[in-house]
Amino acid sequence: MTAVGIDAIEVWTGNLRLDLPGTFAPQKGEDPEKYTKGLGLNASSFPDSYEDIVTMAANAAHRLMDRKGLEPDDIGRIDVATESAFDNSKPVSTYVAGCLEQVFDGDFHHANKGERKFACIAGTQSLDDAYNWIRAGRNRGRAALVIATDTALYARDDPGEATQGAGAVAMLIDEDPALVELSPEQGYGSADETDFLKPNQQFPSVDGKRSVQVYLARMREALEDYESVAGDTHPDDFAFIPFHTPFPGMVRKAALLGYRHMTRDTAIEEELADEIGRQPRPEAFDDDEAYHDALRDYMDGLKGTDPYREWYAETIEPTLSIAREVGNWYTGSVHVARASALKSAFERGTDLAGETLLLGSYGSGAQAEIHAETVREGWEEELAQLNVDEQLDSRYELAWEEYEEIHDAHNHEMDVDIEELTTPEAEFVFDGWGRMGERKYRYVE
Ligand code: COA
Repeated sequence: MTAVGIDAIEVWTGNLRLDLPGTFAPQKGEDPEKYTKGLGLNASSFPDSYEDIVTMAANAAHRLMDRKGLEPDDIGRIDVATESAFDNSKPVSTYVAGCLEQVFDGDFHHANKGERKFACIAGTQSLDDAYNWIRAGRNRGRAALVIATDTALYARDDPGEATQGAGAVAMLIDEDPALVELSPEQGYGSADETDFLKPNQQFPSVDGKRSVQVYLARMREALEDYESVAGDTHPDDFAFIPFHTPFPGMVRKAALLGYRHMTRDTAIEEELADEIGRQPRPEAFDDDEAYHDALRDYMDGLKGTDPYREWYAETIEPTLSIAREVGNWYTGSVHVARASALKSAFERGTDLAGETLLLGSYGSGAQAEIHAETVREGWEEELAQLNVDEQLDSRYELAWEEYEEIHDAHNHEMDVDIEELTTPEAEFVFDGWGRMGERKYRYVE
């Protein structure tokens, strides 16, 4: 069976930066360590006044197509995943194609375009759609462009305000991919939940604490479902486990649960038994409360053990480095985590070809998906093209008053016209409204 997976990846950040411990925390009267240590975030990326989900998506896709030497004819499908769409009918992918047609010869008139919605998991679902389209033999030798793009803004003073972010991830899905092959095996955990939603409103209604619990519950179900088709998982099986990362503190919780699950009935559990006992089993307890108390004690012990700390440092920590500097990119977040992991391996000169990643995607509402990815020969050449550090370093640093203004400028219910804080260069920009209320875009040299 020919391998199908991700051939190339590009990350595009919003051009502004908000310092969380330095600028946000003092205004909120909070300890800066709540952000750096608790949530695990140093900064959020924000869009300047001329940026939005279309410009970021088109800029990421432009860069990807340019460096891969692709023409519109090479692309048979453009799917955009977003939870920040501004139109209930016309998909963001049509706007993105329109932008790209301004800079490439040819057009996308024979490409299938769509938009995927299921909170933050929609980017992974679009990958799955592209994979299935290619596997079904309907691609006529063409590749799929999948773009996850979001402006993850919360209402001012919502607890989620600390975890905002804005950016896009573009991925080229193809046969014989250069980066990773996707596993046919997948596991799902899905239930009707009310943890985070946007019922025809721009900023989300969020039950933050509940969303954390729902994330963990669905992720556990997805892992069990994955194991039912792929066999038991073990911590040593995976070079990295990139999780959906609304904020790195969320992943700290998910990783600990995952490790406990994967080490149950293994030599690792036995090895740790002298130090923290064996894992509590429900059948040994008279009631649920006693069992859950024992589980909590076990987890508290587990997170301090050397085997767990070493595994976390190697397998999880490298997935978080970009998220710490950009915040939550919703649909792009798990794809940012994968890029972080591969980037860290590249920088350390690790030989990753043939190694496996386990991806844990999640979307509120709620659904988790687990699948595996195998790193391909030649992945280093792809990684060498990423310019994430350069992009992050060149963001404009927002003062508090500028942050307040830019948040208002992006608020659909406010009519605020502000000066750009940065000067666009070699990128698409928002260029005002058209006759039917459509958004217009222009490429700036
Ligand atoms: N030093 C170190 N850690 C600190 C700290 C300090 N001074 N102050 C707080 N913390 C820790 C807390 O203990 C907590 O960690 P824990 O959960 O491991 O105990 C973490 O920082 C966050 O603090 P908390 O008081 O829970 O923050 P909050 O009430 O402002 O809300 C969220 C946090 C995540 C609920 C909120 O940001 C939110 O609603 N986010 C949007 C929804 C979301 O992203 N959900 C995730 C699933 S998709």
